[in-house]
Amino acid sequence: MTHSPLPQPNFSGSQNLQFFDDHPPAADIKTEVLAGLAKPQKTLPAKYFYDERGSQLFEAITGLPEYYLTRTEIGLLQQYGEEIADRVGQGAVLMEYGSGASTKIRLMLEALRPDCYVPMDISRDFLLASSQRLLDDYPWLSIYAGCVDYSQPVELPRTLEQASNKLAFFPGSSMGNFTPEEAQSFLRRVRATIGDDGRFLLGVDLDKDEAILHAAYNDAQGVTAQFNKNVLRHLNRVLSASFDETLFEHQALVNKSQSRVEMHLVSTVDQMVHIAGTTIVLRQGESLHTENSYKYRLESLQWMARQAGFELETYWTDENKYFALVMLKAK
Ligand code: AVI
Repeated sequence: MTHSPLPQPNFSGSQNLQFFDDHPPAADIKTEVLAGLAKPQKTLPAKYFYDERGSQLFEAITGLPEYYLTRTEIGLLQQYGEEIADRVGQGAVLMEYGSGASTKIRLMLEALRPDCYVPMDISRDFLLASSQRLLDDYPWLSIYAGCVDYSQPVELPRTLEQASNKLAFFPGSSMGNFTPEEAQSFLRRVRATIGDDGRFLLGVDLDKDEAILHAAYNDAQGVTAQFNKNVLRHLNRVLSASFDETLFEHQALVNKSQSRVEMHLVSTVDQMVHIAGTTIVLRQGESLHTENSYKYRLESLQWMARQAGFELETYWTDENKYFALVMLKAK
């Protein structure tokens, strides 16, 4: 199958930055949040950790000694970046699910030198700031930034849809924050987005010793606790909710049977919370389940990828087998 080269977007001014917006309206956020709070085990959607403060707290987590994920993945990108670039070749469109604030995207950009970089993130401010910093440092780069909720189907501008040699990049084990069913449909959507000649480079946190996992989500400095509680601040702001974060405790536990780390916010008192005209009652000791972080085995990931129309081209892992960079190829 032949593809036409990427039509160059019509950039204005001196900066190669275009923007597309497919962000859910506030009404959808309210429906989604209230639906989670109506369940027997109350839940809050993990994606609402990430306002500007949440994104900064997450960046701080990635530097913590207990949080081995980021430094291990960066080590893999440093070691194998050229090999990845050789596989993908020239003229690539690099699509990142999540915003490019981190060292990882810089390593990818430097190794790959793509024709176009497409960061997609729910946090508009963070997306714009990080895109701007990348343009300052890489003036040769064309950026097509999308403010989107990539846990839902994303409508891409036609110029991007038609591009060939797409490399989707989803680092940081972020797919672990989806349920297995969500991960499966996400893989299918990525497969549809990249087309028949595309690839998907996925950062995967591998299943491992419980103590290591526990420490990674219960850091000594309490940054993860602040990050967890930030979902309450964020919802207070966007939904005029009345969460008092001092009345909740951070809890992170390893659920071995489900192969995941769970984060909760446990209410320390009986309390009522008001959210956009609805009152939620919480008992002392009752938790809001805020995040799952699934840890994969390569065999199960390969099986899921096959179901979604990928083959596992290759993977790279560290000496402890804590983390893997998995290259999936459209089949
Ligand atoms: C973004 N995501 C992969 C992180 C994780 O490890 O699940 C979010 C996080 N939660 C607590 N610490 C970090």
